[in-house]
Amino acid sequence: MTNKLKFESKDGSRRDFLTLLTASSITVGGIAMTWPFLNSLYTQDITVENSFVDIDISSLQAGQQITFTWQNYPIFILNRTKTILEHLQDKTLRTRLRDPDSKELQQPAYTQNWHRSIEPEIIVMVGVCTHLGCIPTLKLRDTLDGYYNCACHGSKFDLAGRVFQGMPAPYNLAIPPYRYLKPTVIRVGENPKGHDFDIHSVQQI
Ligand code: FES
Repeated sequence: MTNKLKFESKDGSRRDFLTLLTASSITVGGIAMTWPFLNSLYTQDITVENSFVDIDISSLQAGQQITFTWQNYPIFILNRTKTILEHLQDKTLRTRLRDPDSKELQQPAYTQNWHRSIEPEIIVMVGVCTHLGCIPTLKLRDTLDGYYNCACHGSKFDLAGRVFQGMPAPYNLAIPPYRYLKPTVIRVGENPKGHDFDIHSVQQI
């Protein structure tokens, strides 16, 4: 189902965006909100400012993405196929990326790895271009491979949110704090035990 969401950026300007939700339910700050008409199309304004959001990814198939808001940021959760994961490790791809090893502080330590996530298949990202804050679009080719494209000034990111060289965007897409409540439920906004990553510590969103 498609929702029109509103969020407020760091600079205080409001933006609208369209998002595709395929999760069966979302829990916001402990209150469950369930949309009964999965895969149906409608528009709704939602503003979420709670400290955490729980996302049920049990219906998220390989090659599909969920988009929702957390702390006024659009958040992407993408289920990556084996082919995508193989491509992320491709040596040629790495030479085309600005920060292939995620050395810049744009993610929690527990996602500073080649897949930029806790579980390799599932990536959670802040869907805000690090150039001037537009929302990149997922461009997927038959679930085999793809990239994120920012239509505002042409920045491109791979499917781990790593920016390509020579783009206006100076940093990889940020990764928010998150942890698994169970294998099919992700809590965005809380770190795994023993970690204290703060999204506001990143170089740029
Ligand atoms: S805001 Fe994305 S390229 Fe400028």
